[in-house]
Amino acid sequence: MPATMEISFTKLGGHMAMAVAGVDLSQPPSADLGARLRQALWDNQVLCIRGQTIGPGAYLAAISAFGEPQVRPEIPHVEGFPEVTTLSSEDRDLKGDGKRLVAGANWHSDDTFMPRPSALTALYGLIVPDVGGDTQYANMYAAYEALPEEKRRYLDTLKVVHTMKPAREGLGRTRSIAPEILAARPPSTHPLVRTHPETGRKALYISRNRMDHIVGMDRAEGHALIDELVEHAIQPQFTYRHKWQQGDIVIWDNRCLMHKANGDYPDGARRFMQRIIVAGEVPV
Ligand code: SIN
Repeated sequence: MPATMEISFTKLGGHMAMAVAGVDLSQPPSADLGARLRQALWDNQVLCIRGQTIGPGAYLAAISAFGEPQVRPEIPHVEGFPEVTTLSSEDRDLKGDGKRLVAGANWHSDDTFMPRPSALTALYGLIVPDVGGDTQYANMYAAYEALPEEKRRYLDTLKVVHTMKPAREGLGRTRSIAPEILAARPPSTHPLVRTHPETGRKALYISRNRMDHIVGMDRAEGHALIDELVEHAIQPQFTYRHKWQQGDIVIWDNRCLMHKANGDYPDGARRFMQRIIVAGEVPV
C-alpha cells in the first residue's frame, strides 16, 4: 500500500460503525493517525480498518494505539504472542462431542465478570467465510436513550453481579472453563447503566450470560428485566451486522455495545480470527 495513499472513512451502518481505507498497519500508527482512529471509534462505536495483511507483532503494535492489550490465558493464542488469541472454525468445545464451538454466540459485552472489564476488542479476519459468520452489534447508548425518562432513572439505580461461569442455562454453547480458572475469577458487581469515560454518554451495560442477579431483586425478576432490555436493544434500529472481508480489523467498544458471533457458515467453510482485548476501567 503506497505511503501516500489517502485515508478515507465510510459509514457502514445507519447508527454506528465506520470503515477506514488507506491505512497500512504494517507500521505502528503515528500519534496523529492513532488519535484520528480513536476518535472515529468513540464517535462510531465500531471501527473497521480494511485491507490488512500483517503479522501478530504489527497487529499488537497497532492495537496498542488504542490502549493496553491484555492476556487471557485460558484462550488459545498465537505462539509467542499471548495477547493475540485465536477464534477458529476448527475450535471444538471440551465437552468432546465434536461440535463446532462458536465463542460469543449470545449477545454480550466482553469479560464483564472482571472488576475492570476490557474496554475494547479487536478482531482480525484472516480467513472469512463467503457466506455467514457475520458479527452483530447493538448500540447500547441508543437503546438506553430511547427508553422513557422514568425507566432510565430507575435503571440508573441498579447494580448487577456478574460471574464468569454462565449464570443461566439455555443461552447457547460456550467454552468449557476449567475449575481453577473459575476459582481465580470471583464475581464482580457493576452498574446496569454505565457512563462512557471518553464520551460522557450513558449506556446500558448488559451481558446476559454473565449476569447472575440484580442486587436486591428476586433472581427471576432480575433475569426477566435483563431479557426485556436485551430484546429492546437488539431491535434493528439499534443494531449493525458486519459482513467480514478478508483483512478487516474490526475494533469495537465494549462499554457501549453488545455483540454476537454467528456460527451459521456451512460445514467445511473456514473462519479464522485473531483477537486482542484492551484493558478497561472500573465501570461507573
Ligand atoms: C466475540 O464475541 O468476541 C467473537 C465475535 C465473532 O467471532 O464474530
